[in-house]
Amino acid sequence: MRPAVYQATAPSNIAFLKYWGKADESLQWPANDSLSMTLSGLCSTTEVQIMAAPDHEVYLSGQLLNRSHSKGRKIFNHIDFLASQFKQDTKLKIQSQNSFPTGCGIASSASGMAALTIAVLAAWFNIEKLEDFPSASLSLSQLAQLSRMGSGSAGRSLYGGFVRWQKGTSAAEQSIVPAFAHHHWSLMDTVVLFSSQEKSVGSTEAHRAAWTSPLFKPRLAGIEDRLQQMLSALAHKDMKRLGPLMETETLEMHGVIMSAKPAVFYFDQKTADFLAWVRHRRQERGIPVYFTLDAGPNVHLIYESEYHKDVLNLLSQYPEVGEILSDEIGSGPVLKKIESEAKL
Ligand code: PMV
Repeated sequence: MRPAVYQATAPSNIAFLKYWGKADESLQWPANDSLSMTLSGLCSTTEVQIMAAPDHEVYLSGQLLNRSHSKGRKIFNHIDFLASQFKQDTKLKIQSQNSFPTGCGIASSASGMAALTIAVLAAWFNIEKLEDFPSASLSLSQLAQLSRMGSGSAGRSLYGGFVRWQKGTSAAEQSIVPAFAHHHWSLMDTVVLFSSQEKSVGSTEAHRAAWTSPLFKPRLAGIEDRLQQMLSALAHKDMKRLGPLMETETLEMHGVIMSAKPAVFYFDQKTADFLAWVRHRRQERGIPVYFTLDAGPNVHLIYESEYHKDVLNLLSQYPEVGEILSDEIGSGPVLKKIESEAKL
């Protein structure tokens, strides 16, 4: 009989207030609070099966990864971290896929690390549904904390809706908490792809480099105020307040890394032209659509779902738009146990 398969699907999330810089790297303690929206269709699905073998077997989009592989290293490190936390030495076969094209430049570490954490622990503790984790003395909040150790932003993917990662006064006190449920406000995120290249500077390096920018400390001084303004705009579902705060935040995050030593540029002229175009068209047409970017050249357009057609219509008028991926606010991860007769 084949062993059961534990399948976790975790969404990606897009930060409105960015996690940018770590106060303590070894403890994954962020330099500031962050606030994100959990997505729905842009997600990672990870299937885990218990296996008798000398080491774990890890496949990403069908490709077998080993411990020395650049992508494999991060995944194996996280499995080893979980194994040491829970004193487990049972080996696992792990297969993971992203719903978005691989290497399309959308950060997959948030959804990937969240799905991996859930599926691995589900297999070790024989958990069938997310709601059953408390039977293994694990809360959603602990799962978020464990996921954050794989990739900081992954912790926010454990909850649906709008999620806040609070820095707290020490690494032990930081916390990841839902701010508003997904049904609070029906927002959409349409991602406009300008590059499918892997980013040249990974987020670990960028978090470190942020401290060398003369803009970084002034940024940290203003974060609490921006967070409170964003939370108030979210509470009132006020896009005309949230949007400009989000754009300033994105430009500030990129300003920090562009003024770091050495400087890092995550986008080029193509993205910059598009950002200017969005701002002009917004003014001209009165469509409340605003941009944000992660550490890459691809643009996330955020707007209320009633403007979806207007936004797609607008995009069809931009001469250089290639691939676009539309998604919406989501309700968080899902776990399923697939019984032995089912094929992996
Ligand atoms: O989770 P990391 O270490 O890949 O950092 C993510 C950083 C940003 O995506 C740029 C911002 C964020 O808060 O998600």
